[in-house]
Amino acid sequence: DLDRPVLGLESSCDETAAAVLAPDGRILAEGVLSQEKEHAVFGGVVPEIAARAHLEALPGLAERVLRRAGLGFGDLGAVAATSGPGLIGGLIVGACFGKGVAIAHDLPFVAVNHLEAHALTARLPGLLPQGAPAFPYLLLLVSGGHCQCVAVEGLGRYRRLGSTLDDAVGEAFDKAAKLMGLPWPGGPHLERLAAEGDPQAVPLPRPLLGRPGCDFSFSGLKTAVARAVAQGSASHADIAAAFQASVAAVLADRARHALEMVPEATGIVVAGGVAANQAVRAALAGVAGIAGVPMLAPPLRYCTDNAVMVAWAGIERLRAGLTDRMDHSPRPRWPL
Ligand code: KG4
Ligand code: ZN
Repeated sequence: DLDRPVLGLESSCDETAAAVLAPDGRILAEGVLSQEKEHAVFGGVVPEIAARAHLEALPGLAERVLRRAGLGFGDLGAVAATSGPGLIGGLIVGACFGKGVAIAHDLPFVAVNHLEAHALTARLPGLLPQGAPAFPYLLLLVSGGHCQCVAVEGLGRYRRLGSTLDDAVGEAFDKAAKLMGLPWPGGPHLERLAAEGDPQAVPLPRPLLGRPGCDFSFSGLKTAVARAVAQGSASHADIAAAFQASVAAVLADRARHALEMVPEATGIVVAGGVAANQAVRAALAGVAGIAGVPMLAPPLRYCTDNAVMVAWAGIERLRAGLTDRMDHSPRPRWPL
């Protein structure tokens, strides 16, 4: 049984992260190193660069995080590493390092699904002022790499209600921002620009709005932004405001459908970098309010990629007696 701290490792995209949690979920220490600067010059995440950066950063980061908690590798009770989905090079780095620590200290190893880690974050004790939501709840995961809506029915019981047919929503923000000449990642820049614009000034499509189900599509919206920018008649601020309003309306519409598909849902949890967007938050809070359930938004650093969520998912799995063998292979694609 679990009576010693758990090390969590995250390396599936462009954040190198390590965290150590007490068996009850208390965060003892954590660290996140963003590779944003390395990738910004290329206008997006370059997988090979990401893998090499994880390789350089992860072992030292894990050591520092443990030291900050007053611990060494020998004090651990288990190791949990994100093993998919994500960029395979980074996943291999994290999984191999995690297995190495586990082998050296004869510890159980947990191969964590990154999506499951996002899904279970809301259950981390003390994270949400309202307390952890009861099952089932909805997860709306809106990041640069993921865009899906999941019914979280229990540990290991996830039902995907819908996902994007083309781009992830963060990707759509980044592409729209790029069209307006903003730096990568463009989401926060676009939000600032949108604050100066009129969302009514430019008519943009709202893909899938009103359609049944909970799928997403953003490529048509991006094309419309490209056209508006090329025409040159509207200001970039107005286009940004219209784009953001369209995304917020679409996400709210999809969330409304998800709540109809799972009427017993106790709340809607938002995760992913796009959860930082105030217009998106307001639209989702509106839908949740009408449905009479809370919108639960963990602090932003636990909405975006981090290792606390990986360690916590590891703890939840360990408590359920679930561990993985050393021959568990990282999976670039690993649906919930
Ligand atoms: O979760 P995240 O940090 O990383 C992964 O994609 O895994 O999400 C990053 C994405 C980027 O596409 C970024 O542009 C977007 O989240 N983002 C935002 C905002 N802040 C970050 N999009 C819209 N508004 C924001 N304020
Ligand atoms: Zn993520």
